[in-house]
Amino acid sequence: MTAAALALNLSSLAAAPRPSDSCIDCHKDEKFRVQNHKLYAYYQEWSGSAHEQAGLSCWSCHGGDPKATGKEAAHTGMLPQSDPGSPFHYKNIPKTCGGCHPAILERFEKSRHYEQLEARGRGPSCITCHGSLNTRAYPITIVERSCAKCHNEKTGNHPEVTTQAKEILSRLNHANGYRKGLKFYYKSINRPGAMDKVDQAYGDVVRFWHEFDFKKLGPRAQDLVAELKSLYLAVQREQSEPTAKP
Ligand code: HEC
Ligand code: HEC
Ligand code: HEC
Ligand code: HEC
Ligand code: HEC
Repeated sequence: MTAAALALNLSSLAAAPRPSDSCIDCHKDEKFRVQNHKLYAYYQEWSGSAHEQAGLSCWSCHGGDPKATGKEAAHTGMLPQSDPGSPFHYKNIPKTCGGCHPAILERFEKSRHYEQLEARGRGPSCITCHGSLNTRAYPITIVERSCAKCHNEKTGNHPEVTTQAKEILSRLNHANGYRKGLKFYYKSINRPGAMDKVDQAYGDVVRFWHEFDFKKLGPRAQDLVAELKSLYLAVQREQSEPTAKP
């Protein structure tokens, strides 16, 4: 399958509702806790993830046939990860994930990381930082540790980016704090549309993060904090005025 066909295929799957689903019915079975703990751990990791909440299933990424109840039949067509045709062969991962996250893929493809991944398979891919199934945006200390695997004094590969990443991510956290505050206030004064601008500004910076151009990203993250802070202070002031609408 070409990358474009793969992407198309995945995004159309995303929109489909979840039918009765043998993947989940079988994989969630408690018996695997003892019989095949590794397998069970994959299910646990996925359970409760943003992807589960968004209605995705195992087959959204792995393929197979969720209507077949037997294991062999359900696994039809699933390739091992080492096969270059597998959606999870290391070089295909960005396109597989990017099939549903195209705006992020577009940025990532401009990065040194993508270049390295394509050329020698040495760069991080989406799952290096997000994990395979649980879609969490890792807390700063964990991100830092994952960067430091490649960026440290010993490898001499831009060791400074680890600290820079920490600074940028704490700015993003900070911005996110204001974003939550704004959401609360805008809701209480019934102005939900006002959040669009805020989410857009935040999303732009998160997408841009995936380009790993820290010289530009550092100042942009700082500007974002300043922008959201001033919006926050403005609405807070408005709220504390006695004439403010209920
Ligand atoms: C009847 C039970 C059953 C069904 C249905 C089932 N699986 Fe599995 N699956 C297993 C078991 C057991 C394993 C562990 C490896 C083995 O025994 O072959 C496994 C392994 C896997 C693996 C690891 C790779 C491998 O081949 O070992 C993936 C990925 C997977 N299943 C995805 C799916 C998807 C996607 C679906 C639905 C389309 C699905 N499974 C349906 C039982 C099932
Ligand atoms: C968002 C895409 C996505 C979804 C949804 C997803 N997986 Fe995966 N899964 C991956 C990726 C990526 C890997 C590659 C793992 C790696 O390299 O660490 C993987 C690996 C696995 C493996 C180990 C593969 C092996 O060959 O041993 C199992 C088992 C597995 N998934 C089961 C499941 C089950 C069961 C579900 C549904 C409950 C599921 N996955 C849903 C992306 C997904
Ligand atoms: C079939 C479509 C699909 C695929 C493939 C897919 N995702 Fe997602 N992903 C979604 C949807 C839908 C959401 C929830 C809405 C949103 O945040 O965009 C989501 C959310 C996320 C989030 C945000 C979680 C949060 O808390 O906001 C991350 C991170 C993520 N996905 C990473 C990945 C990674 C990494 C892969 C590849 C292993 C991947 N996705 C593959 C559809 C997909
Ligand atoms: C080197 C680490 C790294 C790599 C590689 C990476 N990401 Fe991210 N990603 C992050 C961090 C850090 C965030 C921001 C977390 C936050 O919101 O604080 C993030 C955020 C996201 C989000 C959430 C966006 C939102 O609007 O909140 C999605 C979806 C996502 N990444 C998908 C991907 C996909 C798809 C790939 C591969 C093409 C990828 N990421 C590669 C580290 C990475
Ligand atoms: C699997 C190894 C690996 C991991 C993990 C990794 N990187 Fe990289 N990174 C590289 C490679 C290789 C380059 C290209 C270096 C070069 O050729 O100059 C690079 C380049 C960069 C650059 C560009 C440096 C410049 O000035 O050109 C930044 C920024 C960067 N990485 C940030 C990060 C961050 C932040 C993390 C963690 C979230 C991270 N990297 C995780 C391998 C990795």
